[in-house]
Amino acid sequence: SKGTYDTFMLKEIDEQPAVMRKISSHYFDGKKINVDQKMLKDVADADRLYIVAAGTSYHAALVGKDIFENLADVPVDVELASEFGYHMPKLSKKPFFIFLSQSGETADSRQVLVKVNELGFHSLTMTNVPNSTLSREATYTMELLAGPEIAVASTKAYTANIAVEAVLAKAMGELKGVKAAKDLDLQGQLALAANAIQTIVDEKDKFNKIADDYLTGKNDAFYIGRGIDYALSLEAALKLKEISYIHSEGFAAGELKHGTISLIEKDTPVFAYINDGIGAAHTRGNIQEVTARGAHVLVIASKKYAEKGDQVIIPEINEMISPIVSVVPAQLIAYYASLARGNNVDQPRNLAKSVTVE
Ligand code: M6R
Repeated sequence: SKGTYDTFMLKEIDEQPAVMRKISSHYFDGKKINVDQKMLKDVADADRLYIVAAGTSYHAALVGKDIFENLADVPVDVELASEFGYHMPKLSKKPFFIFLSQSGETADSRQVLVKVNELGFHSLTMTNVPNSTLSREATYTMELLAGPEIAVASTKAYTANIAVEAVLAKAMGELKGVKAAKDLDLQGQLALAANAIQTIVDEKDKFNKIADDYLTGKNDAFYIGRGIDYALSLEAALKLKEISYIHSEGFAAGELKHGTISLIEKDTPVFAYINDGIGAAHTRGNIQEVTARGAHVLVIASKKYAEKGDQVIIPEINEMISPIVSVVPAQLIAYYASLARGNNVDQPRNLAKSVTVE
């Protein structure tokens, strides 16, 4: 039930701190990581991971690529389910497949899993619904533990998925003796993430005002960022477009000058993310370029890279998993933009919660 909330989406956004704590207490037993040991050996033995997903889950996979490559020291390909099954690339010698699916029922993802099973490869489904089709048909399952997600726009499943990817990556890295995995205090980081999300959701009015200031009467908006913020920008833009119906795109900030910047005119809303240390200085340059062309820029920066005048500051968190926190402003901006337009926030037009056709 919605409880005291008017919409499931807002309730689910607010549940995210509790979800982070639940993941931490479920998957950690003191310092020990609680995952199926047979699965762990199987996945750690792979020479390449193929993460397959759609929509928001695909965006969580893009964030996961960085996490697995860093913590588990394994190359990762991220694949759109609707493409991968029909255009399968040449696979590595020892592939392992990870399916990300909130519902566990997405037909695009399932058609890939059917082929993976025919080929005899092992797989893991990370899902919020443990008895779902993808869960039953994959070799292994890890639960997202986000609790039922009812709003069509996925929020807590995205942040849960990133956290669960980090749990598995850390366990793999520890098994393989990867220093980065041993050094990461993931429990501590998940606790920080929970508190950071809480700080953001406690400031709802601020995001309502931002949505109002930046998006009233607008037909187009852009999210930009580099590295981890690029992956995040794709999710932020999807959230905004699917429920507000404002055309929005996520771009790698460095790509703007290769075409997209021609779309920038006076008062075009641009949301710029700066959580990625390597990209920070360059993204500042891109912000200057769009500002010079009249864009209305909102900077969402982590505390570490924030500068005077930045409007939204993200509390300190490990960069790799920072989208868990930095997505929340985008979820709230999308929510308020949708509400202001009088849309059905929980059930946007033309969309279903789980897409069971290919
Ligand atoms: O249940 P799944 O995670 O497999 O669903 C995949 C997409 O259909 C889903 O994430 C969709 O993009 C959401 N509406 C996004 O908010």
